[in-house]
Amino acid sequence: MLEQISKVLYSQEDLQNVVARLGKQISEDYRDKNLLMISILKGSVVFMADLMRAVTIPARIDFMSVSSYGSGVKTSGVVRILKDLDKPIEGYDLLIVEDILDSGMTLDYIVGILKARNPRSIRICTLFDKPERRVTDIKADYVGLQVPDEFIVGYGLDFDEVYRNLPFIGVLKPEAYGG
Ligand code: PRP
Ligand code: MN
Ligand code: MG
Repeated sequence: MLEQISKVLYSQEDLQNVVARLGKQISEDYRDKNLLMISILKGSVVFMADLMRAVTIPARIDFMSVSSYGSGVKTSGVVRILKDLDKPIEGYDLLIVEDILDSGMTLDYIVGILKARNPRSIRICTLFDKPERRVTDIKADYVGLQVPDEFIVGYGLDFDEVYRNLPFIGVLKPEAYGG
């Protein structure tokens, strides 16, 4: 399974430390709020599972599934809702949980939709940020790590739906995706 991986960029321990730091900060910032963590499937599922356990204050969770990448490497610019939230969000302080903020198209679309439903507040927590790839003015409020512009997989992040189950972050060899 690992023949397309050139190196380990972040180990399990590296990721645990980042998640612990974010969980601590979020727990302080949302102490007097009505926290609803929203995981954007599928990429954020592993990060969400760890981050919610690093949050030490009462929190609710929900899931939303959108996709713009299909099976390709580059965004098509077309975002679709595959699964919506289960419940209304009025009165909640939303924390959108993403694995990676890249062009920003996905979050731009999601934030637009959720703002219209009148939550009390909306913030974004992304494990990884690739600011130089941005084509929208979306910024994350909580960033785990800024990453170089390489194709990374593992810990929820896929290439063609594979590698999400790796417990670390690896770099995909460019020849694997024709780069
Ligand atoms: C990936 C990633 C983010 C989004 C970031 O999701 O998980 O959600 O792309 O890219 P952007 O900032 O350019 O929009 P993807 O659409 O591949 O779906 P997945 O989470 O199911 O892998
Ligand atoms: Mn995603
Ligand atoms: Mg993907």
